[in-house]
Amino acid sequence: MIGKFIVFEGVEGGGKTTQIELLRDWLLGKGQSGQILSKSIDLEVVITREPGGTKLGKALRELLLNPDVLTEKIQETAELLLYAADRAQHIETLIKPYLEKEAIVLCDRFIDSTIAYQGYGRGLDLELIQQLNYIATGGLKSDLTFWLDIDVEIGLARAKNRGKIDRMEQANIEFHRRVQQGYQELAKNNSLIVRIDANLTQEKVQKQIQAIIIEKLVEWKYI
Ligand SMILES: Nc1ncnc2c1ncn2[C@@H]1O[C@H](COP(=O)(O)OP(=O)(O)OP(=O)(O)O)[C@@H](O)[C@H]1O
Ligand SMILES: [Mg+2]
Repeated sequence: MIGKFIVFEGVEGGGKTTQIELLRDWLLGKGQSGQILSKSIDLEVVITREPGGTKLGKALRELLLNPDVLTEKIQETAELLLYAADRAQHIETLIKPYLEKEAIVLCDRFIDSTIAYQGYGRGLDLELIQQLNYIATGGLKSDLTFWLDIDVEIGLARAKNRGKIDRMEQANIEFHRRVQQGYQELAKNNSLIVRIDANLTQEKVQKQIQAIIIEKLVEWKYI
């Protein structure tokens, strides 16, 4: 597999979706600094997300996150398994095929979300989650993960400003603080997770991401 799999993680409202789109445009040479990259590389860049990167995933996303679609409370273990089902389908039908075509896959959330939300947030067994993540991914890991680290309250306020809030965003602040602590622990123990200060302006956050990407594109011999 020769493409690159780049993941964006973090609590609600940290700017993952915003930054992924800015990065895609920049990589494709549409952004302000595009000329740095556009000279010699011909990239295919794909944006996807979890849950919801496939047709099955979209249906699961509605069940998992839209409180109007399913009014019944989802039990914690059921929630864990639904996220895993989304991931298994996503890996086999979208992520692996694109990586095999040498694309750069930019993915909004991946296995670290399960550890942070279902593990630290809900309190489910971390060992069990690791095993389930392994079953769902077949061991596929990201080549690079950006952790958009934002103050929990600021992130939630941004998400609320954006409009209707989803099932996760409705959870209490203590839940989100535990999720945040999960990301802190993950970043401490994994050198492939790069912390980005996401409290700054969109432009400043994007600049931090681009600086890392340039280093990585050199390391990966794209430029
Ligand atoms: N750096 C920033 N400063 C201020 N507002 C921002 C910044 N980045 C994004 N926003 C705004 O904050 C809101 C949340 O951003 P975005 O949807 O990108 O976050 P997200 O991490 O994808 O959230 P979620 O976890 O809910 O999917 C959006 O309305 C977006 O326009
Ligand atoms: Mg988003």
